[in-house]
Amino acid sequence: MDAKEIAGRRAAAEAQPGMLLGLGTGSTVHWTLQALGERAARGERVRGVPTSLDTERKARQLGIEILRLDEVVALDLAIDGADEIDARFRMIKGGGGALLREKVVASLARRVVIVVGANKVVERLGTTFALPIEVVPFALAPVARRLALLGCDPKLRLGKDGLEYRTDNGNAILDCAFAHGIADPERLERDIDAIPGVVESGLFLGLAHARVVGHDDGRCEVVEQA
Ligand code: A5P
Repeated sequence: MDAKEIAGRRAAAEAQPGMLLGLGTGSTVHWTLQALGERAARGERVRGVPTSLDTERKARQLGIEILRLDEVVALDLAIDGADEIDARFRMIKGGGGALLREKVVASLARRVVIVVGANKVVERLGTTFALPIEVVPFALAPVARRLALLGCDPKLRLGKDGLEYRTDNGNAILDCAFAHGIADPERLERDIDAIPGVVESGLFLGLAHARVVGHDDGRCEVVEQA
């Protein structure tokens, strides 16, 4: 098992029978879905709100029941990956383009558990990963100019086909590299949110309750937010 599988499977154990789940997106949560699918195959009712069309498709194939947000008021537990996470459980997410739905789902969950390989744990956000920002396509040029004034280098994300990438919500993504990382994530989040045309940023602050970190040597640490 590699670090992602160790973390992803361990986090699935947090899901108690009957819970309403938030189902994250990415290659680490992939293993959470596999573990939950194995439980569904043994007859347990496993159900949750997916954070992307990709996760919805995988979950359906695994026998996990799909819920919509108009069918639930709150979720018991959301399990999701991250691109970076720091000691205060602040995160950059959105490498897979699912940041908007991921943030909505996390905001509705009583408990949010983040699954990562050890390489995602950083001292300062933005040092290993550009910050994804979901933007209305109409406003790309002015938003990119305003973002650059915040000290980053915004690059338009392209899809595998070389065309402008589109999220599940039909929006574009600007991947914003900060040469020296992000000194003040809370202030940056406020500044980004104030730009008209920004739909959501990949900064996830104050949302995670626990962090499950897998290591390639087989170890797995579960740390609760202090
Ligand atoms: C999806 O948009 C992201 O937020 C993912 O949760 C994040 O990129 C982690 O993905 P991996 O587990 O594939 O690294």
